[in-house]
Order: sequence, then C-alpha cells, then structure tokens
Amino acid sequence: MRINALPLPYLINACTRFTFSPTRTQLKQATDLVVSNMKAINPILDATEKFTQAKLPGMVTGVALDIKKSKVIAMIAFKDHIEDDERKSCYLYEIQVHPDYRNQKLGQEMMSIYLRIADESDYDCCMLTVLTKNDKAIKFYTKNGFNVDEFTPDVGDAKDHGEEVDYLIMSRRCQRDHK
Ligand SMILES: CC(C)(COP(=O)(O)OP(=O)(O)OC[C@H]1O[C@@H](n2cnc3c(N)ncnc32)[C@H](O)[C@@H]1OP(=O)(O)O)[C@@H](O)C(=O)NCCC(=O)NCCS
Repeated sequence: MRINALPLPYLINACTRFTFSPTRTQLKQATDLVVSNMKAINPILDATEKFTQAKLPGMVTGVALDIKKSKVIAMIAFKDHIEDDERKSCYLYEIQVHPDYRNQKLGQEMMSIYLRIADESDYDCCMLTVLTKNDKAIKFYTKNGFNVDEFTPDVGDAKDHGEEVDYLIMSRRCQRDHK
C-alpha cells in the first residue's frame, strides 16, 4: 500500500458522516448500492462478487452515512495497481451515490478526497474503467481531469474475451512531483 494517510471519519454536512473504516454491515450496504445503482446498465453484476472484491487485500473503501437513518448513501473504493507500462496507479474501482442523494456534491466530495490522497501518495496516475454507455459518469470524470487512456482498446472493433469492447479506460496524472 503506497497510500500515505487516510483521513479520519468526519462530517460532510449536518446529516452525513464519511469514514474509511466501514463496519461489515456498512460494507455489505455499500456493495449492495453498487449492484442496485448499476443494474440498469450492467445487469450481470453480482452482490457476493462485489463484496468479495471489497475485501481484497489493499482495497480502500470509504462510505458516506446518513446519520439519522444509519445507512450507507454513497461509497468509493480504490486500490494500488501496476499497469503494463509500469505506471503505479491508484485504481478507482467504484464511486456510487444513492439516487436520492445525487447532485448534492457527495460524489464530488468523495472524488476530491480520492484525488488528494493519490496526489499526496506515491502514485503516477489515477485510473478507472467506465462503460461507454455511462455517459453521465464519463462527464463527471472528465470534469475531474480524467482523459481516455492510451490503454483503452478500440471500442466496438476490438474483441475482449470474445465480446465487443464496451468500456473506456480513463486516467489522470497525479499532480505531485514525487519523482
Ligand atoms: C456519478 C456520480 C457518482 C456523481 O455523484 P453526485 O453526488 O450525483 O455528483 P455531484 O453532486 O457531486 O456533482 C459533481 C459534478 O458532476 C456533475 N454531474 C453529476 N451527475 C451528473 C450527471 N448525471 N450528468 C451530468 N453531470 C453530472 C454535476 O453537474 C456537478 O458539476 P458542477 O459542480 O458543475 O455542478 C453519481 O451520479 C452516481 O452514483 N452515478 C451512478 C453510479 C455510477 O455510474 N458510478 C460510476 C461507475 S463507473
């Protein structure tokens, strides 16, 4: 793990608390949120698989909690990755906000924490995978400084495990000069 330090739990606003130390129940709620959010555009996502992914060694998961309802309303997950060209990336696995809590800057808050952690640690870049049909997320990532990475296969043309490629790889160079 190359991450220098994770912020302690804090209040995003009067009703919302954010923590990088979710309980098992909160982690389960977070992975259920991923599946429920994505079912329209990615129906094959599986909750058990997502929960197993969340428990991979080195996976960092942050959750935002509605304090009054005691439930997870947003989550972010990222992990170290070494790319084929040896770039050290802080790979964004998930960023998800419950539909009832969108457009209130929760996504932006979590994205800013992630970018700051990556910039302050020993990474070359931030990287993520996004489905080409998820145009809203692509706009959100572009707004946050991500561009289509050179590793993105040719959409539609290339074949990936026998299926048409329907995703983009996006990246953003880390801004701290740590070399
Ligand atoms: C993408 C997502 C995380 C954004 O979170 P959010 O809390 O709704 O976004 P915010 O309120 O923080 O908005 C941040 C900025 O992104 C823009 N944005 C957010 N959602 C947008 C949308 N649906 N379409 C266009 N722009 C959007 C906002 O306009 C805002 O820009 P502004 O600062 O100029 O107003 C959220 O919509 C989500 O959970 N989507 C479903 C899950 C998903 O697709 N995750 C990505 C998987 S790869």
